[in-house]
Amino acid sequence: MTRAVGCLLDLPADHISLTVLDWPGSHWAEPRRAPTNCSPLGKIVRPARGDTLSRPVEPVKEVAMLAATDNVDEAPFDPPYLYPDYRSSVLRAPKRPPVQLARGFHDLPGPVLGPRAVNWLDHDLTRQHEGEPLGERIVVTGRVLDSDGCPVRGILVEVWQANSAGRYVDLGDQHSAPLDSNFTGAGRCSTDGDGRYRFVTVKPGAYPWKNHRNAWRPAHIHFSLFGPELGSRLVTQMYFPGDPLMAGDPILQSIPDPRGRERLVSRFDIDTTVPAWALGYQWDIVLRGHAATPMGA
Ligand SMILES: [Fe+2]
Repeated sequence: MTRAVGCLLDLPADHISLTVLDWPGSHWAEPRRAPTNCSPLGKIVRPARGDTLSRPVEPVKEVAMLAATDNVDEAPFDPPYLYPDYRSSVLRAPKRPPVQLARGFHDLPGPVLGPRAVNWLDHDLTRQHEGEPLGERIVVTGRVLDSDGCPVRGILVEVWQANSAGRYVDLGDQHSAPLDSNFTGAGRCSTDGDGRYRFVTVKPGAYPWKNHRNAWRPAHIHFSLFGPELGSRLVTQMYFPGDPLMAGDPILQSIPDPRGRERLVSRFDIDTTVPAWALGYQWDIVLRGHAATPMGA
């Protein structure tokens, strides 16, 4: 069972692209194993939900459990589809029951990352143009983990963000803040053998949006994670510690549990900071289980 959910750029509804995401609570299913016994291949298997029993997932015991219980506790902090304070969700939230897709849908071939699929500079958003972008240079890094704390290797991690003035390179963004000719605001990389991603960028600025009177989005970076198949995409957002705008942000606040909201906030890390060059932030992404990072937020 899958759902179509807007890709959350917080732009007007007609600028929202649709993608197929997991049913909430499933995220990506993976074989359960002891934390000290991570698979050398970092294998992940796409979700199940209704299609579960057709999938070659091991061990069968976990698959059967998911299919039988529709266990929302697997990702207990995902936001609801409909959160009226977040106005776009009113248009976006499904009004009819989800459609059961044909068996095998999740097996459609998708992004298979070859050795040249990601350019070695794609992770550096500050080196995509002739000059350097304005703003506070930062390094954002972390690990993509499964429910057992094992690294998820070789998946595509994409980011997009506003520039340091709070402006997107998008016709739908008419905020009066300046564009930066040296900053596009998009990058990608694949996770390494430790499940780690790393981006070099500038800290995005806050920007106004029309959700409600005097609405401002806190500084954030959008993340997309692609697994081994076309349907295995997850999207979420990363925030920065101490941002006073988070308390009034209906997108972040749509996550009902404060522990879930905290999981979207990165951690300033002096060891990630590069002396005299860039500040550093750490943010791990857990795909499922009780420590799962909220998705669709
Ligand atoms: Fe945004």
